[in-house]
Amino acid sequence: MVHGDITAMEVDAIVNAANSSLLGGGGVDGAIHRAGGPDILAECREIRAEHGRCRPGDAVVTGAGRLPARWVIHTVGPIWSAEQADEHDRTLASAYRRSLEEADRIGARTVAFPNVSTGVYGFPKRRAAGVAIAAVRGYTSGATGIETVVFVCFGRGNFDLYTEMGCAS
Ligand code: APR
Repeated sequence: MVHGDITAMEVDAIVNAANSSLLGGGGVDGAIHRAGGPDILAECREIRAEHGRCRPGDAVVTGAGRLPARWVIHTVGPIWSAEQADEHDRTLASAYRRSLEEADRIGARTVAFPNVSTGVYGFPKRRAAGVAIAAVRGYTSGATGIETVVFVCFGRGNFDLYTEMGCAS
């Protein structure tokens, strides 16, 4: 786990907390497109033209443009509402799992995640941390080529949470 900006991470793949349109936005999505440059959006448009919107819980892969990473895995987390808490847990877990499946498919060995859905999408941070850590631990306990998964916490709150939940920094 690190406390910082995912766009600076020197890993094979960074994960973007995108929206279903794949056409960019604010938060980490905006930061990745700003730092990575227009090539990322161009590839997102191609994916969108060919496969349509990215469903919540799914993930797609593009190059990383000017970023130090080699790929960007764009995943879409759930927009939080307390009425559908359990369903949102499952969708968030799926976003992490599908991102790791895509990482294995492209042969990425090191993967960095932001705290998906905990910003604009309003997912409670502690609940999201539990879902994220369980999903990653569950996936990486099975057959995978992934060697390292990094949780990149931009905000202090998430960093303290992941520390409290036993993630090594
Ligand atoms: N590096 C790492 N994490 C970041 C960065 C960054 N440069 N910038 C923001 N974050 C963190 C936020 O602090 C938050 O903890 O990413 C986490 C996810 O927040 P959002 O980026 O708001 O993503 P999310 O809550 O999943 O909402 C997605 O927001 O930006 C739009 O287009 C995006 O519509 C989509 C929605």
